[in-house]
Order: sequence, then structure tokens, then C-alpha cells
Amino acid sequence: MWVTHVGPQTHVNLASAPLLEQVMRQEGKYPVRNDMDLWKEHRDLQGLAYGPFTTQGHHWYQLRQVLNQRMLKPAEAALYTDALNEVIDSFMVRLNEIRAESSSGDQVPDMAHLFYYFALEAICYILFEKRIGCLERSIPQDTAAFVRSVGLMFQNSLYATFLPKWTRPLLPFWKRYLDGWNTIFSFGKKLIDQKLKEIEAQLQAEGPEGVQISGYRHKDFAHMPLLKAVLKETLRLYPVVPINSRVIVEKEIEVGGFLFPKNTQFVLCHYVVSRDPSIFPEPESFQPHRWLKKSQPDTLGVQHPFGSVPFGYGVRACLGRRIAELEMQLLLARLMQQYQVVLAPETGEVKSVARIVLVPNKNVGLRFLQRPC
Ligand code: HEM
Repeated sequence: MWVTHVGPQTHVNLASAPLLEQVMRQEGKYPVRNDMDLWKEHRDLQGLAYGPFTTQGHHWYQLRQVLNQRMLKPAEAALYTDALNEVIDSFMVRLNEIRAESSSGDQVPDMAHLFYYFALEAICYILFEKRIGCLERSIPQDTAAFVRSVGLMFQNSLYATFLPKWTRPLLPFWKRYLDGWNTIFSFGKKLIDQKLKEIEAQLQAEGPEGVQISGYRHKDFAHMPLLKAVLKETLRLYPVVPINSRVIVEKEIEVGGFLFPKNTQFVLCHYVVSRDPSIFPEPESFQPHRWLKKSQPDTLGVQHPFGSVPFGYGVRACLGRRIAELEMQLLLARLMQQYQVVLAPETGEVKSVARIVLVPNKNVGLRFLQRPC
């Protein structure tokens, strides 16, 4: 446990599983990650409503009650299987095109980039029931502008966090930050408006029974424990969210024998904790089997429940967890069925760097070698 100061803020950093547990178990009914002021400023300026990331208290709770029903119940999330498989079909086609264009005929030079486009296409298809063309050879203009805006918003939010407010009218970062958000919102609004029009037209033509809300089949990964273990082990070594946080707003709390006043900002160092050798023996090595009950009954018994929590914890945990898990399972299963995957020799050693989320420090080139049928 140690304290750091970032600008006017004081952070209490926690890097052990028992300490994380102490904070998380005292987080209360309406947990707060951080105040999200920067995001809220944009919504306030444009008169837009807050979403699950930005809102707090009872309003957040009510929003989650509704969204959890459609996104987190395993049976509900499984309904997205067919939509995801459709996006995976496009992904496999795009992957093949890129392979064919490479000099060896089997190489993809930047996997993270391709996975990013896949994830964006998948979540937009689920949320808006519209394909946005991220996996087409030539990406539609408005989609390309949307993707650029996500990057623009994140890049400039760094300046907006660390530079004083009086620099906003003088330097270009603030306008770029707001422009990024405005394009993101208008892209989303266009898709929602289109969908509403379709529903209205269906209602007029056929009445309430005619409205088709997506209904997909359920697929079961219960018989693929190793596949799930590989994903868990990957997220242990490379947690997408390497650092998370909580502010306990309701009361002062005791952590590690110290008493902290309410509104203390705790930083939860998940990346460090999930490489703790006292919880995960040989923590730097990739051992999916450590997650399989039968193969390691002894070690599984000592794993701390807060050793690796890639989707966070409690009522404020990741809303997209079930969708993300299903997405990764379906895609990995399909890729492994068709290809043997090896690192492209020129890639060399890849390290991870924290850019809000964890990303590779260089392009990851992979070779996809066709398996014999
Ligand atoms: C591998 C993929 C993903 C990982 C590892 C991940 C991880 C996380 C983590 C660690 C948090 C913070 C939880 C906490 O504070 O306890 C979070 C929050 C959140 N995630 Fe994810 N996430 C993933 C994918 C997604 C997807 C695909 C969606 C969208 C459907 C999504 C939507 C959200 C939302 C809305 C929140 C904020 C929830 C709230 O504050 O109530 N995530 N995620």
C-alpha cells in the first residue's frame, strides 16, 4: 500500500489481493469508480443524458437494473450467439484477405488492430442491430470517421485531464476532445433513429406481434473447459483494465489497519496482484491448466478470490462481461479449428503498455497456418 499525488488528487494504491478484498467488500449499495467529470462535462455541454459509466447513486442503480436483465443474465447474453457468429464469418473472410495480401500468404501484420475492428463491429451489431462495416475491405466513410473520433477523444482526454482549465480556449486539445465525442454521439444517434423508424414501420404494418427483437439460439461452451481456462489465464497475465478504482463515499473505512476518511480514492493495482507468486505459482508463465479443477486440486484451493478479477467486482462490475466472454469463446474456437497460429518471426518480444486499457507495445504479427481438413 502506498500513496501518490496526481495534480490535486491523492491516491491510495493497493497491490495485494487481501487489501483489494477489504475495499471491495465495503463498497456499499452504490459503488463509485471515480467521478468521471471529464466525460460528464461533454454530456452537460450538449444536454445529453448520462450512461452507466458516468452516472452515480440511485439513478445508476436503476439503469443497471434494466441493463443487467438484457446483458448480464447468461441465458440472455447467449441469445447474441448468432449475431456474433455472423460477425465472426466476416472476420474470417477479412482475415483471409489480409493473409492473402501478405508476402508469405499466411500473415496478419497487426492483430490488435483487426481484433479492435472485430470488437467494434460486434458490439455495434448487438447494440444497434446494424452492421457498420468495420470488417469490410473498404470501411464506409461515416464508420471510419466514428473510429477516428474514438481515438481523438481518448488522445485528447489525456491533455484535458492534466492541463489546467484555462488552457482550453488557447490550445487545440479541448475542441478536439469535444469534437471526438460529438461525432461518436451523432453516429450512435443515427443508428438508433434508423432502428426506431424500422420498428415504427413494422408496428404500422403488422401491429405489436410483427416487431422482431433479435432472437438467437443458445450455444454452450460447458464442454470446452480448456478454452475458458486459456481466456482466464490470458486475462490474468494481461488484464484489459490493469488498474481500477473505488471511492467509498458513504463512510470512513479501515484498510490494512489504517483508517481512511470517506471520499478517499483507492487505486486497485490488478496487473500487479494477478502476478503475485503467493497466489499464482510461477506467475509470469502462461499456464491455463491452473484454472482446471481436476488437474491442480491443491493450488486451486489457495487461489485468492481477488487474485484475478479482470471484469471487476460486485454490482458495479463490467456490464459487458457475458457478451465479451461469449465473443472471445466463439472467435477463439473458430480460429483454432481452422488455423494453427504462430508468431511472425519479425514480431520479436511483445510487451504490454497501459494506455488506460492494456495494449501491446508494438504491432503483433501472426501467421495463420491452415490446418488440414
Ligand atoms: C474482455 C473484455 C472486457 C473486459 C476485460 C472488461 C473489464 C471491465 C472492468 C474491469 C470494468 C470495471 C468494473 C469495476 O469497476 O468493478 C468494466 C466496466 C464496464 N464495462 Fe467492461 N470489459 C470488457 C468488455 C466490455 C464490453 C464488450 C462492454 C459493452 C457491452 C463493456 C461495458 C462495460 C460498462 C458499461 C462498464 C461500466 C459499468 C458500471 O459502471 O456500472 N465491457 N469493464
